[in-house]
Amino acid sequence: MTSFTFPKDFLWGASSSSYQIEGALDVDGRGPCVWDTFAAAGKIQDGSTAAIACDHFNRWPEDVALMKQAGFNAYRFSLAWPRIIPAGSGAINAKGLDFYDRLVDGILEAGIRPMACLYHWDLPQPLEDAGGWQGREIVGPFAEFARVAAQRLGDRVKDWMMLNEPNVVAIFGYGLGDHAPGHHLGEMGMLKALHHQNLAQGAALRALAAEHSDFTLGTVINLQPCRAESDKPEDIAAAARWDAVWNRVPLDGVMRGQIPALLAEQMKDIVKPGDEEAIRFPIDLLGLNYYSRMTMKYETSHPFDVTWGDAHCERWTGMAWPVQPDGLYDLLAEFKRDYGNPAVFIAENGAAYEDVVEADGQIHDVERVAFLKDHLQAVGRAVQDGCNVKGYLCWSLLDNFEWAFGLSKRFGIVRVDYDTLTRTPKDSYRYFSEVVKSGQV
Ligand code: FCB
Repeated sequence: MTSFTFPKDFLWGASSSSYQIEGALDVDGRGPCVWDTFAAAGKIQDGSTAAIACDHFNRWPEDVALMKQAGFNAYRFSLAWPRIIPAGSGAINAKGLDFYDRLVDGILEAGIRPMACLYHWDLPQPLEDAGGWQGREIVGPFAEFARVAAQRLGDRVKDWMMLNEPNVVAIFGYGLGDHAPGHHLGEMGMLKALHHQNLAQGAALRALAAEHSDFTLGTVINLQPCRAESDKPEDIAAAARWDAVWNRVPLDGVMRGQIPALLAEQMKDIVKPGDEEAIRFPIDLLGLNYYSRMTMKYETSHPFDVTWGDAHCERWTGMAWPVQPDGLYDLLAEFKRDYGNPAVFIAENGAAYEDVVEADGQIHDVERVAFLKDHLQAVGRAVQDGCNVKGYLCWSLLDNFEWAFGLSKRFGIVRVDYDTLTRTPKDSYRYFSEVVKSGQV
């Protein structure tokens, strides 16, 4: 294997999200969110809830210390909208802001750059009751939330990410119903949710740009190169269409102000005059979440007439996601080639596996170490080839509440024992820390 050296100012760290780690759902005036409702309806596969999760709300000093010890210089976390504005719009909850105030101070004291994400899926329930991402009425409240957060934290938090994976929210939350709020609205519901997130993002970016001129503004999208499983025309068409839905609506929305031509007809009643200008914004930093490619097959018995698995892949994670590090290189190369080489950072990359705690209490997660190594190599190669990659944040520091899978899927480089809440660094933590400290992979 070739070895790669990363730039001195490269951002190294981890990403997390409020709902997946904080717990304390009823504490200090936090309001209900769609995931609380979804869990209460029995939709979490292992029957768990995020009521305690990693108890990060109380144990964050220990978690920040783990990041410091690993040598991290960056940390992306999300701000829980229902903690800060419990009804989604209207009254501000001072105690909710106080929590993030303490957290941000602690992160900075550890010498780590706090990167705040505004929306990692914990939509306040009252906003969902009013239509959620199906309506454009949500745009104003989201921009207001952005403003409130920035007014309190913007003197110390300089990196602001708007959304996390709007495609997943739209497709699984509104199209298929596997995620909160659990709607089965099919293609139109999915496209509406995508477009309205793009609009809300555009409004929030403008609100933040007006707030402080020294912010680094961006958003986080998970991109998956889509390729056809065969050279049959219907598979090729399915791959092109799914690429438009999954990748291009969010990416070309913010970067180019464009609705993909393939979807223009379907989206013509959703997109109003002026929307394309409103969704476009010259962001400073694009967060990229990468887990795998998608290999598309036309299949009418499946939702949206496609399957996206890869029958030929030989390595799989515990989520049954194929392991395809070369897809990450391809994406970074694509940004350089087709999007003017914008500043990007890997905002999430990692893998769930069935970890085993050995008799000595250790977790020798060799598969996760190999996963990280292969993906870090792909990033190193992209940097060497001139791609404008600013950092790599793994998903995730801690095992956490993996949405509809509950606590059953472990993505952490640190194990969380959900009975005692003890944190135990895995081999992958030590491996990643070596890479971070040496700047080499
Ligand atoms: C991403 C999500 C993140 C986590 C990882 C495994 O899609 O952004 O919250 O669930 O997948």
